[in-house]
Amino acid sequence: MKFKTEIFEQFDKKWALLTAGRKDDFNMMTISWGGMGTLWNRPVATVYVRTSRYTHDFMDKEDYFTVSFYPEEYRKILGVLGSKSGRDIDKIRDSGLTAIEARESVTFREADITLLCKKLYKQQMDIKAIPEYIARENYAEAAIHDMYIGEVIDIIIKEETR
Ligand SMILES: Cc1cc2nc3c(=O)[nH]c(=O)nc-3n(C[C@H](O)[C@H](O)[C@H](O)COP(=O)(O)O)c2cc1C
Repeated sequence: MKFKTEIFEQFDKKWALLTAGRKDDFNMMTISWGGMGTLWNRPVATVYVRTSRYTHDFMDKEDYFTVSFYPEEYRKILGVLGSKSGRDIDKIRDSGLTAIEARESVTFREADITLLCKKLYKQQMDIKAIPEYIARENYAEAAIHDMYIGEVIDIIIKEETR
């Protein structure tokens, strides 16, 4: 499995889509907080999802999720998917993305790279363990994040970018 990247830019600058669910019932949202690394001798991806997100329901329900990365021209679409909820809009219709099965989960044909992840761990951020100024900035008016760690069981690379 090969995935070369500027590790600190991949999430923060390029953003990604987090998708959970099955092809007949799923949701996706834009994320820019996350990481890739090693845990329990496995390659893992970690994502942070506020409990208020519609995608959070799917993250809890499902055993798999995908993290997918897009060419620059999709930034506007990622902006929409990161500001509107799947509870209120039809994200597939409004984004124009093409959902495809990625084994037990879903990704999109337009993605350059998709990490297929098997959920290994979930834990809610402990607000008491966060520096006070960070807690104030992030959680004074918004829901707490749940952290999900998934084993990266496959990396799907778009044909053209191989
Ligand atoms: C650039 C960007 C990055 C984001 N990163 C995160 C994130 O890491 N975690 C999170 O919970 N929400 C994040 N969001 C917000 C969600 O994408 C947004 O609330 C979305 O509308 C949730 O959709 P849903 O309710 O359909 O799940 C981000 C939004 C943008 C625009």
